[in-house]
Amino acid sequence: MAYAAFRSIGSYVPSKILTNDELSKMVDTTDEWITKRTGIKERRIAAKDEHTSDLGVEAAKKAIQRSGVDASEIDMIICATISPDYFCMPSTATVIATKLGLGKITAFDISAACTGFVYLISIAKAFIESGMKKNILIVGAEKISAIMDYTDRGTCILFGDGAGAAMICATQIKQEAIIDVHTASDGNYADLLMTPNGGTGSVHDALEQEAAGCFMQMKGNETFKVAVRTLTKDVIDILEKNSIDSSAIKHFIPHQANYRIIKAVGDALKLKEEQVVLTVEKYGNTSGASIPMAMDDVYEQGKLKKGDLMLLDAFGGGLTWGSALVPFSPK
Ligand code: UT7
Repeated sequence: MAYAAFRSIGSYVPSKILTNDELSKMVDTTDEWITKRTGIKERRIAAKDEHTSDLGVEAAKKAIQRSGVDASEIDMIICATISPDYFCMPSTATVIATKLGLGKITAFDISAACTGFVYLISIAKAFIESGMKKNILIVGAEKISAIMDYTDRGTCILFGDGAGAAMICATQIKQEAIIDVHTASDGNYADLLMTPNGGTGSVHDALEQEAAGCFMQMKGNETFKVAVRTLTKDVIDILEKNSIDSSAIKHFIPHQANYRIIKAVGDALKLKEEQVVLTVEKYGNTSGASIPMAMDDVYEQGKLKKGDLMLLDAFGGGLTWGSALVPFSPK
């Protein structure tokens, strides 16, 4: 049987920084409020001509190079994004594949918002374990600034742009395998975090849609409460199911939505500070890109070593959530 190994990680952040002080000139907020309520100090914003696929391409180049897999051996690419280059089609995955010259491989996007990267891992694992694919490039890429209402202070302070990518490859070595992945959703909470306009579910006519701008809307406080409740249960469940104690986790890499959510979940697992990966202060919430960006931050610091056990967790629009137990298994 083939197992799925998490071989490599890469990320990319746009160069433009948007600080809390700059945001406080755009909406009625302060650096103090944002820092206290979210832990965020600044976030990155992509240039006007820099598309989601461009961010994904840069992250993917690093992940491919670090995996030791030749680009010609990649047989599938999946991209998680809520800010695709194009509405409906073509998928951002096909754009990235073409920009990377990957040839005529299977390529598609998934929509699971901030949980996108955990969903990607579960899909890649299933394709590899079934024997259908061998080397899968997964990309979480977001240009959230393009779907953001910069008059909505309850939402715009939280988000930023960026991308992360990883190579998931077939292996015969069980110790290298991704241990488990949980994915879940509940559409009853769809209205907590959504882009209400622009799709066929929209009741607006074309002119109203244009005026509404098809921006993201979030009921932050309700989302916060469901996130803490749901994530805490999910990470406890995945650890119990696999008989793994939280002390065995080398890196807890949560979705970087808000420091207070991360702290609540980390405390529930009795994690030590050095186990918890935090990038929220410098990048904010980059939705489906946040986990691989945070993982690459640890890698770039030289702290992600072969065999390290990672616990990932994420929560986002849908609502969706998930967690994964992943050993880092470079070649
Ligand atoms: O990534 C996918 C999932 N998303 C999340 O997990 C997001 C979860 N939510 C959050 O991170 C937090 O709910 C926010 C950071 C968005 C908001 O923090 P909060 O502590 O839940 O604040 P709140 O919405 O309960 O608002 C508290 C007060 C309100 O004023 P009143 O009614 O108490 O007078 C808001 O109007 O803070 C006010 N407020 C602000 N004040 C200054 C809301 N946004 C701001 C702001 N600056 N940017």
